[in-house]
This record gives sequence, C-alpha cells and structure tokens, in this order.
Amino acid sequence: MSVERVRHCWLIAITVALGFGQTKYVPPAPEQPIPFSHRVHIAKGLDCKGCHPVPEPGDFATIPETAKCMACHSTVKKESAAIQRLAALHEQNKPVEWRRVYRLPDYVFFSHKEHITKAAATCETCHGPVPERDALRKEKDISMAACMECHRAKGASVNWPVGLGGKGNEGVSGLIKQTPNSMGYVELIYAIQNKMPYGKVKNSSGDFIKADLASVSGAAAGAVKTMPEDFRVSITNAPGKTVYPIASFTWLLVPSKFSDAGKRDALKGFVQWMLADGQNYAESLAYAKLPPEVVAKELKALSKIQ
Ligand code: HEC
Ligand code: HEC
Ligand code: HEC
Ligand code: HEC
Repeated sequence: MSVERVRHCWLIAITVALGFGQTKYVPPAPEQPIPFSHRVHIAKGLDCKGCHPVPEPGDFATIPETAKCMACHSTVKKESAAIQRLAALHEQNKPVEWRRVYRLPDYVFFSHKEHITKAAATCETCHGPVPERDALRKEKDISMAACMECHRAKGASVNWPVGLGGKGNEGVSGLIKQTPNSMGYVELIYAIQNKMPYGKVKNSSGDFIKADLASVSGAAAGAVKTMPEDFRVSITNAPGKTVYPIASFTWLLVPSKFSDAGKRDALKGFVQWMLADGQNYAESLAYAKLPPEVVAKELKALSKIQ
C-alpha cells in the first residue's frame, strides 16, 4: 500500500512539472492613454466591425477615430475624467495615441481580409476572447513560428497575383513545359532532366550565378565551419562570390537509440554506404556530393547510434 502511495505522488509531481513547462508568457497590457474596455462596449451590443472595419475596406483592421467614440460620449458618461480627456482630444482634432498590442515587423506581409474570408479564421483565433477583456494584452502568439504552424496545419499557400500553381517539382516543370513564355522554380535535377533552360540568380555578394554542382557544393563547403552537432544549418544565400544562393542540404532523421539491433545495423550499414560509395552516384543525379568534412562529421555521429 505504501508503494502505491509513493507511485501516486510521482505521477502528480510529473504532471505538475509538465503543466508548469507549458505555461506561456503573456506580456502585460500596455498602459493606454484612455482606459478603454472591450468587455464593457461589446456588452452594450457593439460589433467588432462597427469600430474595426475588417475585412472591408482593405487588408488592415483600423483603430477607430475619436469621432466614432464621440457619437455616444458627447452625451454618455460626460462626467468621467477619461471621457473628458477623450472629448478634449476630439475638440483639438488630435488622435488618441493608442499603444499597439499586436504589431508585426514592417517586412511581414499580413492581410486580415485574406485570413477572415479565405482562411475562415475568427478574431478569437488570433486575438483571444476580446469580448471578455477589459485591457487587451498580447495573449496570442503572432510570431512567424505561430503563423507557420497554422499554415502547415491548413496546407496554406501563397496566392501569387498571376500564374498557375503546380504541385511539387514534377507539377511545376510539367506546367512550364506546356505553357509558352512561362517561368517557374524547380529543383536542379528537374530542369536538367526536362531540358528546361534556366537562369542565373543573384547571390549575397551581388554576383549572378548559374546553378550547377560546383556552385551548390560551394554553398555547402562554406557551412562546414559553423555546422552544429545536430547538422541543422541553413545554406540559403550563403556567403561567397561563386556560391549559388538557393541551395539546401537534404536531411535524414535517424533515431539515436534503437530497440531492435537488426534494424539498427541495417540502417547504419545503409547510411555508411550513402556516405562512402553512394556519394559516387550523387553527381549523375545532379545532386552535389557532400564536402569531405561533412562526411567525417556524419560518420562520427553514426558511430554514436546505439
Ligand atoms: C454605442 C455607444 C458607445 C460608443 C460608440 C463608445 N462608447 Fe464608450 N461607453 C459607452 C457606454 C454606454 C459606457 C458606459 C458603460 C457603463 O459604465 O455601464 C461607456 C464607457 C466608456 C468608458 C468608461 C468611462 C468611465 O469612466 O466609466 C470609456 C473610457 C469609454 N467608454 C471610451 C470609449 C472610446 C475610446 C470609444 C471609441 C473608441 C467609445 N468609448 C465608444 C458607449 C459607447
Ligand atoms: C467601440 C469601439 C470598439 C469595438 C466595438 C471593438 N473595438 Fe477593438 N479596439 C478599440 C480601440 C479604441 C482599441 C485600441 C485600444 C486597445 O488596444 O484596447 C482597440 C484595439 C483592438 C485590438 C488591438 C489592436 C492592436 O494591435 O493594438 C484588437 C485585436 C481588437 N481591438 C479586436 C476587437 C474585436 C475582436 C472586437 C469585437 C469582439 C472589437 N475589437 C471591438 C475599439 C473597439
Ligand atoms: C490570422 C490571425 C488574425 C485574425 C484571424 C485576426 N487578426 Fe487582427 N491582427 C493580426 C495580426 C498579426 C495583427 C498585427 C498586424 C500588423 O502589425 O501589421 C493584427 C492587428 C489587428 C488590429 C490593429 C490594426 C492593424 O490592422 O494592424 C486590429 C484592430 C485587429 N487586428 C482586429 C481584428 C479583428 C476585429 C478581427 C476579426 C474580425 C481580427 N483582427 C482577426 C492577426 C489576426
Ligand atoms: C488560423 C490559421 C492561420 C494563422 C494563425 C495565420 N495564417 Fe496566414 N493563411 C492561412 C490560410 C488557410 C491561408 C490560405 C488562404 C487561401 O486559401 O488563400 C493563409 C494565407 C496567408 C498568406 C497568403 C495570402 C496572400 O495574400 O497571398 C499570407 C502572406 C499569410 N497567410 C501570412 C500570415 C502571417 C504573417 C501570419 C502570422 C502573423 C499568418 N498568416 C497566420 C491561415 C493562417
């Protein structure tokens, strides 16, 4: 019985630890020049769209002007100090300097219209239960990782203003071949095998470089020095005058521990072959060979797999 009890305690301890680990940090509400409460106003029957016209007329939601507030507050709650401040600003034709809660860096393109009409997202998805809140704070994550999480889950893709969408390298190369004067973006092997002409791309030094095995290997070689133990390194837009900018490693996800020794040995043998004899097949398939320093690092990591 005492053993049972001890086990019980353990379980609770673990759950609590996990629960704490998952609590995310929500920054405090910024102090606003006028203490506006969404809860109070929405309880009066006001609609989001009445103050934030989304998605019409455009891509941005806007914060209402003082005139909108004064439609009510020229008579409602005139005795309140906050409303008197609001009325004074309105009188002087000055906007309320609201502190922004959700703000993306300028280089990020985001459209409310696209998300509300096409992605069928609601205000709550990205801003939480606003009708229950007095002061708003950034309770929902709008980091690029959060955007991408939803994009992956929903299989979202960019709506290019013109053009046709092809699925994967095969789809895109097929469409380009069929469509006169068209342009697209495919993996090197598809361009070579389909005999598609391809152009030079400007790299980080400002030089225009044609994709070939040497210019891709150049990008990989530059990354060797900075490659971390788990091999996660980006070689997009890598430095170097002769380096092709749109290059990438292809990764293999291998467990570090196997319970089945047979499977482990088979897999290790296969990867060993890929890193040795297998390299000789890469170039005929228009893939760059791994730089020798990377092979050495990989062999070391392979030997640690149990
Ligand atoms: C449709 C009418 C209406 C509009 C539009 C409106 N309000 Fe109000 N507001 C009210 C009412 C009604 C109350 C009082 C709620 C209560 O105390 O029961 C209120 C309360 C307030 C208060 C609290 C005042 C206090 O000291 O108790 C502030 C501040 C405020 N409003 C600011 C604004 C701002 C800023 C806008 C414009 C963005 C705005 N309101 C737009 C109706 C409105
Ligand atoms: C009476 C007008 C009014 C109504 C109705 C209203 N809002 Fe607002 N909203 C404001 C004002 C004023 C601000 C700026 C002050 C603040 O951040 O609280 C604001 C700010 C916001 C912000 C933060 C913007 C930022 O990044 O700084 C969000 C998000 C928001 N509102 C969502 C909503 C949603 C969702 C609804 C409907 C459920 C709604 N609002 C209804 C007036 C209104
Ligand atoms: C897919 C996520 C998403 C949805 C859905 C969404 N918003 Fe936003 N909202 C954002 C992001 C991100 C920003 C910051 C935009 C920026 O800084 O350019 C923002 C900013 C705002 C702002 C500040 C003004 C602006 O456009 O930058 C208001 C007001 C706002 N949202 C209201 C709403 C309302 C009302 C709804 C529902 C009709 C809504 N949002 C739905 C993500 C969303
Ligand atoms: C609720 C899930 C969701 C979230 C959160 C979300 N998106 Fe989207 N997004 C979508 C979907 C679904 C589409 C595809 C819409 C369509 O079918 O055209 C899309 C489309 C887009 C597009 C292409 C639309 C165009 O005009 O070309 C861009 C750009 C975009 N999202 C940026 C962002 C950014 C930036 C964020 C984070 C601040 C974000 N999204 C958050 C679901 C989401």
